[in-house]
Amino acid sequence: MTHITTMRSTNQRHQQSRLTRKVGVVIALAVAGVAGGLWYRSVTRPWPYIQHRMLPNELPYLTRERLCQILAPQAGERILEVGPGTGVFSIPVAQCLAPGGTLEVFDIQQVMLDHTLRVAAEQNVSNIVATQGDARHLPYADGTFDAAFMVTVLGEIPDQDAALGELRRVLKPGGRLVVGEFMFDVHAVPLGLLKRRAERHGFRFERRVGPRLSYIARFATDPSELR
Ligand SMILES: C[S@@+](CC[C@H](N)C(=O)[O-])C[C@H]1O[C@@H](n2cnc3c(N)ncnc32)[C@H](O)[C@@H]1O
Repeated sequence: MTHITTMRSTNQRHQQSRLTRKVGVVIALAVAGVAGGLWYRSVTRPWPYIQHRMLPNELPYLTRERLCQILAPQAGERILEVGPGTGVFSIPVAQCLAPGGTLEVFDIQQVMLDHTLRVAAEQNVSNIVATQGDARHLPYADGTFDAAFMVTVLGEIPDQDAALGELRRVLKPGGRLVVGEFMFDVHAVPLGLLKRRAERHGFRFERRVGPRLSYIARFATDPSELR
């Protein structure tokens, strides 16, 4: 009898220690997962071209139609797109700028620009000019563009303030800035944070389309400003 009781309590101790080990492993995995996620969010890097097929044509609410509606590109305008990727938004915007207007696409990866130009050629769109570089240093003169836009790009840029300052510089007085963000993207920029950053650089928030989880926001520079 004593023997059976001893065996039972030994078994219970073993079960308990197995359970403690399992709980420990689960907690360690959860902590590692959260730490990994935070680290990945904090490391800004351009979307690798090798994953370009994973760039969706359109995300919920971030559609070409909505972008064109809020950006309102007009024939004859000169517009800058930062981070065109595979050109999902470039083509319809460039088409709205014809005749006489130009879409300048600017990306840190030449391979993305090549892809965009290839798609444009396939669709007989000839008013796109591509330049490779880092959005923290835009190679355009002050007051060059009527508007600028970027979709799921800002969070990939290591210094968002530098990029917003540059965008402000290259826009004409009264120029529009349109930014699209998708909150399930690890590098997404929440609307409140974007507003604060953009306002620091002289942009005035005008409006947004879509919910905060998947929004396109429009800002403008002061039209009366002298340069
Ligand atoms: C997630 S992709 C979005 C592509 C496209 N806008 C779309 O919505 O399908 C981000 C793009 O921004 C570009 N990018 C990232 N950092 C950049 C930087 N510092 N300067 C210019 N382009 C950058 C990447 O190369 C990539 O083409």
